[in-house]
Amino acid sequence: MTQLSAAQNAQSTTTASDANRALYGGKTNRRVTVRDIGLAKERGEKWPMLTAYDAMTASVFDEAGIPVILVGDSAGNCHLGYDTTVPVTLDEMTMLASAVVRGTKRSLIVADLPFGSYQEGPVQALRSATRLVKEAGAGAVKLEGGERSHEQIRLLVESGIPVMAHIGLTPQSVNAMGYRVQGRGEEAAQQMLRDAKAVQDAGAFAVVLELVPAELAAEVTRTLHIPTVGIGAGAETDAQVLVWTDALGLTPGRVPKFVKKYADLRTVMTDAVRDFAQDVVGGTFPSEEHSVH
Ligand code: KIV
Repeated sequence: MTQLSAAQNAQSTTTASDANRALYGGKTNRRVTVRDIGLAKERGEKWPMLTAYDAMTASVFDEAGIPVILVGDSAGNCHLGYDTTVPVTLDEMTMLASAVVRGTKRSLIVADLPFGSYQEGPVQALRSATRLVKEAGAGAVKLEGGERSHEQIRLLVESGIPVMAHIGLTPQSVNAMGYRVQGRGEEAAQQMLRDAKAVQDAGAFAVVLELVPAELAAEVTRTLHIPTVGIGAGAETDAQVLVWTDALGLTPGRVPKFVKKYADLRTVMTDAVRDFAQDVVGGTFPSEEHSVH
């Protein structure tokens, strides 16, 4: 199985043995579904999510058993060379999501709705999300906003498109809110709880909490029956997501405090590229071993 539409994903039945299979480490021969994600919360199981923007990188994560891959609009900064996520277009997201779907067999693929593709209202959101599930083959979409996006979420879910919500720091609003911790202080914390409940009530199957104080993220996680996916939101969320170029050390310069670097790919790649260049300049590549006659 190489591709499942969102509708197939949402409808695929889960057998009794699937219901007890861990999201990470309990491999099945089918794609992870949003139902599997809900069952993981019931079991109290934590799970990892990574971003990916191309088929080959996604295939590594898929083979490593990452159950959910996010084709994030962080592609703007990490893949397309923009300064923020704001310029990313729906055409670009559709192209990147298609590649990630093609490169994977088992992970649930969640594709971001980019800035400007859903803010006008539910009908625009449905039109945009339909491209991501129909053209790209994504199993679910993600959009930013709590109470302000609940109508969009409701229509997508009613139309058979699973939605992951995203509250706290919402990078598409960088021009209005900057990159600051969200939910500090009683008033802001109460608003965060209202936003979390609004997206759950609208039918979201999970919600990303970005840059939220750990204590508040823990309270949101206890309050909701859908899973929370933390990024810079402490250890108590149901899942954790990192931008892959940050986590594997490809991002140049400083990364946010909440990022743990699991590799230093930038150094590995730079050293390898310099070795190649030296071999070419010195005439040692190609050698006989790498030549045909
Ligand atoms: O676009 C993205 O990568 C995201 C994650 C930071 C959650 O939204």
